[in-house]
Amino acid sequence: MIRIDRARLEETFREQARIGATTGGGLTRLALSDEDRIIRDRMVAWLEAAGCAVRVDRMGNIFGRRPASPGGPTDDELPPVVMGSHVDSVPTGGRFDGVLGVVCALEAIRALNAAKTRTRHPIELAIFTNEEGARFQPAMLGSAVMAGKVSLEDAYNKRDRHGIRLVDELERIGYLGAEPCIPRPMRAYLELHIEQGPFLEEAGLPVGVVEGIVAIAWARVTFHGEQDHAGPTPMPARHDALVAAADVVKAVRRIPLEIGRDMVGTVGWLDVHPNIVNAIPGKAVLTSDLRAPSDTDLDRAVERLEAAARDAAAAEGVRPEYEPLMRVPLTRFDTDVVGAVEAAATTLGVRYRRMLSGAGHDAQHMAAICPTGMVFVPSIRGKSHCEEENTHFDDIEHGANVLLHAALTLAGPA
Ligand code: GLV
Ligand code: MN
Ligand code: MN
Repeated sequence: MIRIDRARLEETFREQARIGATTGGGLTRLALSDEDRIIRDRMVAWLEAAGCAVRVDRMGNIFGRRPASPGGPTDDELPPVVMGSHVDSVPTGGRFDGVLGVVCALEAIRALNAAKTRTRHPIELAIFTNEEGARFQPAMLGSAVMAGKVSLEDAYNKRDRHGIRLVDELERIGYLGAEPCIPRPMRAYLELHIEQGPFLEEAGLPVGVVEGIVAIAWARVTFHGEQDHAGPTPMPARHDALVAAADVVKAVRRIPLEIGRDMVGTVGWLDVHPNIVNAIPGKAVLTSDLRAPSDTDLDRAVERLEAAARDAAAAEGVRPEYEPLMRVPLTRFDTDVVGAVEAAATTLGVRYRRMLSGAGHDAQHMAAICPTGMVFVPSIRGKSHCEEENTHFDDIEHGANVLLHAALTLAGPA
């Protein structure tokens, strides 16, 4: 039975982990940064060396295609089986999030080449732009545009914290491609990813067969108060934007606990102006990240958040501004693709469980335009979006073989 080459996979993984490496053993490789350009260039070179034809679309999404019959006279017309993920990271993030799926997909292609395996459908590797949403909001932007959830123009005009436009950065790093970023026929989309939570490790299982992804809502809340002196201003005369923001931080912690049923909520971003010791904050900006395995629960949570922002503003006499940044519905993956992943695990004798993803992935948008599934591998102590992110290579090897065999089944024999 065909298998991936573990040594080659580990070597490629180590090489990618050097690009944007932090002193704490993680990665800072923000979307469309110089580090992103370097990893993209490296991936393109590796794809071309593996005999893939590489195309870049208008969102900078990269696609490398392995023809159905490598070296054969014709490339066929059948829709490809696409495997992929992302290569950007969060600041002081881990070495695995996203890029592991890309490296495993590349290894799957290399393994098919080494075994001279022909497939009925071509096989592609996809690398999506700005998955993390750390630099440009929302997350999963490359796949969102492809799925028609965000317009190309909107995406181009997203700005980072410093006001730099996404399209200008795409151009600067040389990845403003020519291909239209629109849905096209795909046999399936498969994404391998680290779990980023504790459940596989707790269960002692090397692989998760992912059935879907929780619903996610991001919002930005801004409070406009009155900047004033910290000394002479009497307490009743204050309109402190940060005090209102603090109420919302507590609400985002409280709401998921009230609703229950596996809901979570996070405030991860807080900007305060002027952010000095002796001035009452005149402006505070925060983000809310709410997730639930139910769209109705998430809708209810978003309503409560909006109410909490209004109440906090009224109590402090400041003006609230509420801006939804992202809403992705609960996603159920295609039963045939999930079945192919499960069958691959069974054929390989790899123990697994079916599960839902608590993290967002490009697969969530791809599921709207083609049959989609995912493979998870365990995260040590469940940690992710931090430098401690880690996964045992024994598990990665199992996951990569499951990815390879699921792709092979979906691509069919030539
Ligand atoms: C992507 O990393 C997410 O926010 O789940
Ligand atoms: Mn990811
Ligand atoms: Mn991530």
